[in-house]
Amino acid sequence: LGVLCCGAGTAAVTWLWSAKSVSTVGNVAFGNRLAIPPLAASTVDAEGRRVFDLRAGAGSHDFGRGAAPTWGFNGSYLGPTLRATRGEKVLVNVSNALAEETSVHWHGMHLPAAMDGGPHQSIAPGGTWSPTWTVNQPAATLWYHPHPHGTTAEHVYRGLAGMFIVDDPATSVGALPHEYGVDDIPVIVQDKRLDGDGRLDESNPAFSGAGILGGTIAVNGTVDPFLDVTTERVRLRLLNGSNVRSYDFGFADDRRFALVGTDGGLLSAPHGTNRIMLSPGERAEIVVTVRAGERAILRSTPPKLGLGGIADRFNGGADSFDILELRAAPTLAARPQVPARLVDVPRLDPATAAQRRTFTLSGHSINGRKMEHERVDAAVLKDSVEVWKVTSNDGEPHSFHVHDVQFQVSTMDGKAPPPQLAGWKDTIYLTPGVRFEIIARFADYADPATPYMFHCHTLYHEDRGMMGQFVVVEKGQQPAVRHSGHN
Ligand code: C2O
Ligand code: CU
Repeated sequence: LGVLCCGAGTAAVTWLWSAKSVSTVGNVAFGNRLAIPPLAASTVDAEGRRVFDLRAGAGSHDFGRGAAPTWGFNGSYLGPTLRATRGEKVLVNVSNALAEETSVHWHGMHLPAAMDGGPHQSIAPGGTWSPTWTVNQPAATLWYHPHPHGTTAEHVYRGLAGMFIVDDPATSVGALPHEYGVDDIPVIVQDKRLDGDGRLDESNPAFSGAGILGGTIAVNGTVDPFLDVTTERVRLRLLNGSNVRSYDFGFADDRRFALVGTDGGLLSAPHGTNRIMLSPGERAEIVVTVRAGERAILRSTPPKLGLGGIADRFNGGADSFDILELRAAPTLAARPQVPARLVDVPRLDPATAAQRRTFTLSGHSINGRKMEHERVDAAVLKDSVEVWKVTSNDGEPHSFHVHDVQFQVSTMDGKAPPPQLAGWKDTIYLTPGVRFEIIARFADYADPATPYMFHCHTLYHEDRGMMGQFVVVEKGQQPAVRHSGHN
């Protein structure tokens, strides 16, 4: 058994896949202590860069029914949490110890296209890729995962994913719980389909028409997890790291909590609610208040996907899952109230848009076209603001993710977005038939030769070609993209 230390200011450096203790509440026995991804070790090199090492490799992991072959970063399942502060220059040495090529994409990160880790930056077996960039965005819960075209779904499903937390003194809000592993907890939620031997079942990747759905929920890799809570408030950094399943998170007793952040940072003010829905790739930061000695169950109820009939059922509409039991200690350390104001989220003004584009998602295509490595679907002028109208209309669960930027939802069917879509976003669930207008500024990095991706984050759809490419250019530059990778 490893030792996980999470005292103030102490970085957790090893996983704890822990011992059992038994509690039965409802239909789930929360018998396993929630594993907390260790904070990745780093060093500062001669040029002042914070250097991390990630190694993608094979291993085995127990989803409750014995050892199953899995993949992970620096371990057998998932990866450590990377953490860096705005203004820091980071360098990540990503080595590939797998027998096939992969890549690592920094989902939600604003960075040069050549560092983005999409299909154009593949890493051959035995190879190492070392992207470097300066972190320059508000405090946020980001994540990383492979992005090789055609095999992203399998690579993520087998366990290649991790969190990347950005800190920023100006936008971190010190009054929110912030002791990693104590009152600030990563919660990576994934569903798994296990075969009779407890192994990950990949036999029918199109099982639901949209990818693999499973009835076993793993949180940070732990099945039936509980978390010992020692403070009266706890921040959960929820990440839907599933291939296709959406979750509508709440608590079994319907208690209210404060939604304080979405994909790209904190909200301007906390939103009091009892539900937050996340489609694959989306994140939410919530602050939950607990009473001494109680147990509170984080539960997902059927999300309202708007698909209707059989599609809702196949996409998890019929399923409720108990996700995580919070076990509050008999006495709890005090924590401040969630402040009424958090950070400034200046609204981008559609009137300032230099360009408007329309993207319709349907039939595993975007605007009727499938991803091609050498085709550029949009050339965006550096530092310009664009409005993209995005709609899904084929009755399958689609979302929309844009690399490089954090965007805002300007309107949904012409109306202002609800509070959970009012902050910085990089991924949104596309309610079928609803016209979303999103707006972003494409600042800083022009490179006519290297594209960024936009795509559906239902990974099976992405792999089937529901993805396009954009480049950011200086005035007068023409896109000049060559297919450099192998996949
Ligand atoms: Cu989370 Cu293009 O990916
Ligand atoms: Cu899709």
